[in-house]
Amino acid sequence: MKIYNTLVMIGMIMLIIACSTAKSTLGGEDPLVFAQGVASGDPTESAVVIWTRISDLAKSAQKVKWAISQRADMSQPIQSGEVMTDASIDHTVKVDVRQLQPGQRYFFRFDYGDSSSPIGQTKTLPTDSDQLSLGIVSCSNYEWGYFNAYQSLANKDVDLVLHLGDYIYEYGPGTYGDTTLARQHLPAKEIITLADYRTRYKQYRTDPDLQKIHQMVPFVNIWDDHEISNDAYKDGAQNHQDDEGDYQSRMRDAKQAYYEWMPTRLGMGDPLYRAYSSGKLMDLIMLDERLAGRTKPIKALSEAPGDHTMLGQTQLDWFSQQLSSSDAIWKIIGNQVIFSPLDVSRVYETPVNFDAWDGYERERNSIASLLRSDEISNVVFVTGDTHSSWAFEVPVSTREYRGNQKSYAIEIGTPSISSANWDEGRSTEETIFAEKMLLAANQHLKYVNGRDHGYVILHLTVEKAVAEWYYISTLADRNYSERLGKRMEFYTNGSAKLN
Ligand SMILES: [Fe+2]
Repeated sequence: MKIYNTLVMIGMIMLIIACSTAKSTLGGEDPLVFAQGVASGDPTESAVVIWTRISDLAKSAQKVKWAISQRADMSQPIQSGEVMTDASIDHTVKVDVRQLQPGQRYFFRFDYGDSSSPIGQTKTLPTDSDQLSLGIVSCSNYEWGYFNAYQSLANKDVDLVLHLGDYIYEYGPGTYGDTTLARQHLPAKEIITLADYRTRYKQYRTDPDLQKIHQMVPFVNIWDDHEISNDAYKDGAQNHQDDEGDYQSRMRDAKQAYYEWMPTRLGMGDPLYRAYSSGKLMDLIMLDERLAGRTKPIKALSEAPGDHTMLGQTQLDWFSQQLSSSDAIWKIIGNQVIFSPLDVSRVYETPVNFDAWDGYERERNSIASLLRSDEISNVVFVTGDTHSSWAFEVPVSTREYRGNQKSYAIEIGTPSISSANWDEGRSTEETIFAEKMLLAANQHLKYVNGRDHGYVILHLTVEKAVAEWYYISTLADRNYSERLGKRMEFYTNGSAKLN
């Protein structure tokens, strides 16, 4: 599989290819100048994007120096250079550092005038490793509480963090959050304009726990709906009203701020869906299930129009080609909404979650057909969105499930970093009852937990994938404890073993 996104240089962000080996000017670390810290992302086997932002002290274009080293003290940098930034890109800075070695840890820093950024750490993807660890996160709402789960994951030794979306939420203060905490959203309104989205990202990225994890590990991000507006699709959103202006311009502004603030190689002209390879062990395929092609959710399966789509034909063709051409042991699919069929009739009034893949059956069936006809094995969907933990064997339908012989993939759902669990809207007893009802109605569902916040670490080896769900004790206090809540192993021969 080819790495999808190469040689992208979009005007929004100036990406400078590494070229010189001059020593950078070393100054003191200045939290006022680099108030949003540093980040890295979109690693390949030979490149990684490094990111920072200088506080908007000046309106004119500003020169920022950067350097990357294999030493933690930044001595003997192997590459360095300069890059310009200005208000048109919200004073963000990105450098696509290339010609790196696979599977290596690197350290990086930016300098602006006499000030230096914190030193960041990052890693390229390995080409010949027989193990890889992925942190999997989603749904990080600032108002719902402290980002203790980010802090916890930052202390684990993972190669990469996949953020599956809802990195920010668009709501105004008090609309969706814990109003007892001093973490009200900025700006103090629902975000609609480019300036609004930038201010919201700036607030989130000033959080010390989010800064820390970005400083320690490279991210691969995809958006879900709240980076734009609740239940977003390509032509509208549940939380976009007529008096909030033109949806297409809101979507454009949301995308622009996202690409400025995320440590991604992408620019405005690029699709978000993309793929990465790590030797023979993993192909990582990231999907866009919101803005690339999604049509408006239906309210009954019988209402689905002929062109009803989650991915859109262009992305579906690309996805099919990526799956068919992959010769990696593990095919990891970065997915936003639940892919597996799920009977929710014993829990909700409607038997189908139409926002998830259950509402886009025809397209899901075509993916299932491809995986089965081409005998594409060891496919793992990793999923966010639901603020709860899941493990599925994926059958064509709930009725057809007869143990994992009839399943063609597995799906791992990651809990929220902070967004409300089920028991933050109903009692713990009702939540436990709902979990039991879901397990009873869905034999292919192997694990569900609607009560805990945290993240998943997925360990990949040539024999098995091991999913670990880590949970944190509280959102309301920076003092927290963590526990390993669940661990499951999936073997490449298709058997699943619960521990
Ligand atoms: Fe969410």
